[in-house]
Amino acid sequence: MQLPNYKEAKVRNKKYKRVEYNLDDNYIGKYSGKTYFLKTYGCQMNEHDSENIKAMLESIGFSEQEDYTKADLVLLNTCSIRENAHNKAFGMLGRLKHLKGQKKDLIIGLCGCMAQEVGVVEEILKKYKFVNFVFGTHNLYRLPLIIDKALTENKQEIEVFSKEGDLIENIPVRRENNYKAYVNIIYGCDKFCTYCIVPFTRGGERSRKKEDILKEIKELVQDGYKEVTLLGQNVNAYGKDLYEEYGLGELLEDVSKTKIARIRFTTSHPWDFTDKMIDVISKYSNIMPSIHLPLQSGSSRILKLMGRRYTKESYLELFDKMKEKIPDVSISTDIIVGFPQESEEDFKETLDVVNHCKYDNAFTFIYSPRENTPAAKLKDNIEYRIKEERLQKLNNLVNYYFLENNKKLENQTVEVLVEGKSIKKENQYYGYTKTNKLVNFTGENIKEGDLVSVTITDAKTWSLDGKLSK
Ligand code: 5AD
Ligand code: SF4
Repeated sequence: MQLPNYKEAKVRNKKYKRVEYNLDDNYIGKYSGKTYFLKTYGCQMNEHDSENIKAMLESIGFSEQEDYTKADLVLLNTCSIRENAHNKAFGMLGRLKHLKGQKKDLIIGLCGCMAQEVGVVEEILKKYKFVNFVFGTHNLYRLPLIIDKALTENKQEIEVFSKEGDLIENIPVRRENNYKAYVNIIYGCDKFCTYCIVPFTRGGERSRKKEDILKEIKELVQDGYKEVTLLGQNVNAYGKDLYEEYGLGELLEDVSKTKIARIRFTTSHPWDFTDKMIDVISKYSNIMPSIHLPLQSGSSRILKLMGRRYTKESYLELFDKMKEKIPDVSISTDIIVGFPQESEEDFKETLDVVNHCKYDNAFTFIYSPRENTPAAKLKDNIEYRIKEERLQKLNNLVNYYFLENNKKLENQTVEVLVEGKSIKKENQYYGYTKTNKLVNFTGENIKEGDLVSVTITDAKTWSLDGKLSK
């Protein structure tokens, strides 16, 4: 048994190893005939981890079962970012306890970010003894061995590493989409924003070698993929731990040369966003003019308490530079309201920034205190009702700008990557623009994965309607 430890999780000494995934032949197909149900919570990083988990489970013989009540194994890939993600996973564990009462052989596992939390694992040891195994984000690649151990020894297996985490290449993957793929470029985060649990659950910043990334993308191109999203908790830090003079700007340039039709990247921290990156995004047509630039707060005082390393003014300077240099760029953001000590005046500054930036999309949250983070120790003097009111006000404002921006696209022709067909209506398809806007459109002789031109007929707050251009 190996339990999580926050002291170790905080250390950043860059002592990690680069290792190739290697599974002993004895495990291949060992659990043939058994089925699994995997539930994924949280961000794109977790979604992509689940694509690795599915491939590993299938390599040892499990096949997917979409009804969890019928599966032999139920695995939860969890998220720690806010309290509600936590509650959802614990709610599911409650249902699984009931199910296990009826199905004694049911195997239950928990992995992902919550497994890295000391409090969660303590609770599982005390109250959730029916969970067969728990593993963390750093030892995902050991999944076949952990399951095997839990089943052969028939006791609860907990294996969570808290050290930075090794960098494992060639973990098998079963991609969910045939045209759009996630590609990890950097793991972990060293920013330690005071509200955020991610630096503790995902470890230190570790970049993959550029050769490994480019090889993966070239193979995706050969397999017919049209779009890659380069993933990291903080993609702008790419390369810093590995190269003298090779960062996200240089990587984007090299990825662009693979000729993949569309390149996206997420998430960016305003702190590391260089002029080189802005130049590269504006220069290459296959790098999408779509940037996610979390603001978190528009008040420099709150940004300081959040440990964000930029001010309202420097954020706006960067934002304006992007708008000026990258033609038709769309910028989306994340905003937290109700951070401890956020005054009405601080909140008003957030609204001012939104009025300036007129974001194309925004994810808005009420601050949620997270175990072991510095912000959780701050005195929080704001009533929850006030936080809810601020969220509502903010949502009304951001929605206003989503619609305003979308309206500008009416009667314009945009490129759409086709994702699928409506089940309800004949000749109705959907896909995304270069700026990542959802378009529902009519047309004929269209296939998933096609890049088509669509004329926008009607703009809504969260989507656009259109018809295939002749
Ligand atoms: N409370 C509320 N929102 C949070 N986020 C991260 N940590 C917290 C927290 N403790 C939000 C940030 C981040 C996004 C992924 O989640 O806005 O950018
Ligand atoms: Fe969390 Fe993002 Fe800050 Fe890293 S940069 S600590 S992931 S909010």
